[in-house]
Amino acid sequence: MAASRATLLVCNGALAALAMLLLIAPSSLTVVAATAGVPYRAAMVEHSPVFPANATPVEMMAANMALYELHMVAAKASGAQVVVFPEFGLGPKNFIDRDQLLPFAEHLPAVSNATGQTAPCYDASAPPVFRNASCFALNYGILVSINMYDVQPCTTASDPRCPRDGRFQYNTEVVFDERGIMVAKYYKTHVFYLNCFDEPATPDLVYFTSAFNVTFGVFTCFDIMFETPSVPLVNLGIRNFLYSVAMSALGPVGKDIFEIWSARHNSTLLASNDGTGPSGAFVHGVNKVSQQVNIPGTTNEVLLLADLVA
Ligand SMILES: *[C@@H]1O[C@H](CO)[C@@H](O)[C@H](O)[C@H]1NC(C)=O
Ligand SMILES: *[C@@H]1O[C@H](CO)[C@@H](O)[C@H](O)[C@H]1NC(C)=O
Ligand SMILES: *[C@@H]1O[C@H](CO)[C@@H](O)[C@H](O)[C@H]1NC(C)=O
Ligand SMILES: *[C@@H]1O[C@H](CO)[C@@H](O)[C@H](O)[C@H]1NC(C)=O
Repeated sequence: MAASRATLLVCNGALAALAMLLLIAPSSLTVVAATAGVPYRAAMVEHSPVFPANATPVEMMAANMALYELHMVAAKASGAQVVVFPEFGLGPKNFIDRDQLLPFAEHLPAVSNATGQTAPCYDASAPPVFRNASCFALNYGILVSINMYDVQPCTTASDPRCPRDGRFQYNTEVVFDERGIMVAKYYKTHVFYLNCFDEPATPDLVYFTSAFNVTFGVFTCFDIMFETPSVPLVNLGIRNFLYSVAMSALGPVGKDIFEIWSARHNSTLLASNDGTGPSGAFVHGVNKVSQQVNIPGTTNEVLLLADLVA
């Protein structure tokens, strides 16, 4: 998509916030038993969303999910243990209003810690993107972080914040473990498109420990410009972050932001961007990507790989 007024706004916001970012002090307080010395291989997707002519929203998302699956194949062949997909990777991002976004959203369940639960992949009645993403994680045996939209019905009686159309629409990061089970669901705290997304009432502090024993925190795109939720997560001792972004229109400015944030917080930021980057594994200010896989049969689809130590 060509640079729009909105992307210019992102750009201005980013530049203005850069100075503030530099002022945020790093924290040394450790609460979560942070893993130390655990090696892992991460994969960050660079994906340019496709918009097939005359496609319904679900068909459009399926077309992008088909490209996502090519990344899963490459990630598996590369021995990656975690794959991060970009924000707004499944369709458009410049929705006119809440109604236009709705057909791209799915009603998602809450994360459950019940033992013996089965993956949504096995549930034919699960929403299609949610279900297929679960199948990616299960079929390829890789932790998957994917950006989608969760719609939750509400009433003003039960929640005074309930929008007039009777639903919350959240920009949502969903993480599935190697069994295809949802282990984290994060609602973006600072949404950029206020015309179609709601913000959670309180910032979502979302983190989990993976099967390979790395504790990951989750936040999304514009969140990086604010103290919450990333700094509270850092204050808990979390140093590895799954970060879906749609900042490719910013070019190198995005890279500067990722470097500065990861250096400032002595953390690892697994950044997956829409379009052709910048993406990468930013570790203490340095991009540690060591390998690039150009996905066969595509022009702009690239998987970036990095060997990291949590
Ligand atoms: C995971 O990391 C924690 C904290 O470092 C450690 O106590 C634990 O033994 C590790 N577990 C495994 C399975 O490696
Ligand atoms: C889900 O996967 C099935 C089977 O591959 C496919 O037919 C369908 O189009 C996919 N839908 C989405 C939204 O990814
Ligand atoms: C599952 O989550 C509930 C609610 O947060 C908590 O009370 C319970 O202890 C958890 N159970 C396990 C096995 O972690
Ligand atoms: C940054 O983190 C690494 C481990 O991830 C640790 O060894 C190092 O001491 C930290 N540096 C600072 C300045 O906190």
